[in-house]
Amino acid sequence: MKVTRLASAAAIASALVLPAALPSAAAPPSDRPLPPGLAKQDTLRWSAADDFYIGTAVAGGGHHVSQSYPAPFFNDQQYREVLASEFSSISAENQMKWEFIHPQRGRYRFAETDAIVEFAQENGQVVRGHTLLWHSQNPEWLEEGDFSDQELRAILKDHITTVVSRYAGQIQQWDVANEIFDSEGTLRTEENIWIRELGPGIIADAFRWAHEADPEAKLFFNDYGVEANNAKSDAYYEVIQKYLAQGVPVHGFAVQGHLSMRYGFPAGLEANLQRFDDLGLETAVTEIDVRMDLPIGADPTAAQLEKQANYYQRALEACLGVEGCNSFTIWGFVDKYSWVPVFFEGQGAATVMWNDFTRKPAYYALQSSLVK
Ligand code: XIL
Repeated sequence: MKVTRLASAAAIASALVLPAALPSAAAPPSDRPLPPGLAKQDTLRWSAADDFYIGTAVAGGGHHVSQSYPAPFFNDQQYREVLASEFSSISAENQMKWEFIHPQRGRYRFAETDAIVEFAQENGQVVRGHTLLWHSQNPEWLEEGDFSDQELRAILKDHITTVVSRYAGQIQQWDVANEIFDSEGTLRTEENIWIRELGPGIIADAFRWAHEADPEAKLFFNDYGVEANNAKSDAYYEVIQKYLAQGVPVHGFAVQGHLSMRYGFPAGLEANLQRFDDLGLETAVTEIDVRMDLPIGADPTAAQLEKQANYYQRALEACLGVEGCNSFTIWGFVDKYSWVPVFFEGQGAATVMWNDFTRKPAYYALQSSLVK
């Protein structure tokens, strides 16, 4: 998925305006707040075991910038309440990507990420950092810059050191390397600027630099299309074994889980996660959504909703079945802010809540698996 979109200055400015009336979520009495009037089993985070993190992406940046609504995380109070009450882990959907956090050479834009990390702390949530080395959503100054290899290496090291150390101790898992292989399991030697210019050895360096900057954070490979045992997940299986043998600080393998109902549920997800677990790694589902064919303006049918619920539930059950899979993140929780209709024409309704935040069958399917 090659996704490059630069935010307009006006959109960035409007994203930064915090309406005075918007209170931050109330400080929790314990590290896991229970919103007033809700019983424990009423939200996903309270349905989950204490050591299992149920997460979502925090809407902002990327495709949101070109939509008609104001930046959700800063402006939609109901969104913030659901974000706080339902989830124990949050991921930056776009706010930690290069084009967003490092818009000019040597100039970082931390405001949104600071706000996300602060929100997580106020609400007893952990944070997933996303992402440090990727072929997509890089700023123009980087992609079009005419840098020597030495300069590029220094730029990457500076970026990783600066961003990771700023949030050291506050990020549970970092997606250090995102989508480095294509569907054949071949390294993206052309698309990925770092691998193209500096060779594959730069990937191990990225993990080493991240580890130096935050020795506590768990460092992950993350990709889509690796749910099943296939050429792409095999490529990760090999490179990870090599890195572990060399002492490169790799701690986790994550499947994104952008699923489409046009295809069957990925076969053998649990067994695939298990083989990485057997290497001593943590595993995670980091970006699940389940999209369906949906003509504009149409509602999903009951059968579509049931099938969607089944996909979400099977993915969660696969993760729950693997000892070291403790983090399951849905890529947005409400349809109106989902990236899916913007990127996949004719498809939509991929999240677990309707636009008014009422719950779809997929929500209840997840909840019922979590309470088990
Ligand atoms: C998506 C975001 O959801 C959009 O807002 C943005 O416009 C494009 O990127 N794989 C990833 C995520 O690792 O970062 C992508 O997120 C979805 C695919």
